[in-house]
Amino acid sequence: MTGSTILAARALTMRYGRDGALVRAVDEIDLEVPAGQTVAVMGPSGCGKSTLLHLLGGLQRPTGGEIWLADHRIDAMSERALARLRRDHIGFVFQSFHLMDELTAVENVELAALLAGQSPRRARRRALHLLDRVGVADRAGHLPSALSGGQRQRVAIARALSNEPLILLADEPTGNLDSAATVEVLRLFEELRAAGQTLVVVTHDARIAAVADRMISMRDGAFADDSRLVGSAGGTGYATGTVYGSGTVYGGGR
Ligand SMILES: Nc1ncnc2c1ncn2[C@@H]1O[C@H](COP(=O)(O)OP(=O)(O)OP(=O)(O)O)[C@@H](O)[C@H]1O
Ligand SMILES: [Mg+2]
Repeated sequence: MTGSTILAARALTMRYGRDGALVRAVDEIDLEVPAGQTVAVMGPSGCGKSTLLHLLGGLQRPTGGEIWLADHRIDAMSERALARLRRDHIGFVFQSFHLMDELTAVENVELAALLAGQSPRRARRRALHLLDRVGVADRAGHLPSALSGGQRQRVAIARALSNEPLILLADEPTGNLDSAATVEVLRLFEELRAAGQTLVVVTHDARIAAVADRMISMRDGAFADDSRLVGSAGGTGYATGTVYGSGTVYGGGR
């Protein structure tokens, strides 16, 4: 693995069931994500996108292959070490937000830092800063039930950023949002990309092409296409030289 690779997978495989009922949810995938790259993963329902993301983020163990996060091989780690690595280095964003209903926005964002032993004052200051960064500072004291879908997702993104993750993994982050809120969240991803955050976003929304450096299309647990997007080479500064599939060239719309 090169110094600038944040995430790598080799022959990554996840199979469910056996014999006649065998499902190859993820089928010998190879992947390298350089630092600062924004990767969009698209594909039909059931092609293995969520499974891939869960494997990459150490939420699920593969049945085969290797996963590396920076210098850590995570597929073979103990549960304890893996939990610590997720806490310290990985950010997750889910379609259904997964906020704690009884905690305010700022409490949701600071919770992980408090559990990790940070002082309450520091955790609060940082959480408020993150809410400001995602544009919902004025909603810090609200419960999730008093927030719009787009605001909830922005709080969830602030929470995912609280450990300054090496990589942010998002599974259909706009799947529950209306069109206006989707645009807000996509804009936020664009900002994170500009700030150098490494991102993998699973989505059905083709508008993600406007904020991604690279588009991977999945079919039946494998990559059908893996393309660098036009207009993404300048500015982000991530390492070049990786060969991305054959593929389609998208976009030019930026
Ligand atoms: N726990 C499980 N047991 C058996 N099969 C499973 C399990 N979890 C997922 N699968 C199967 O693995 C395949 C990939 O599922 P996955 O959820 O990764 O798809 P997806 O691309 O995220 O779909 P969607 O777009 O609908 O979210 C599907 O065929 C699914 O039925
Ligand atoms: Mg899914």
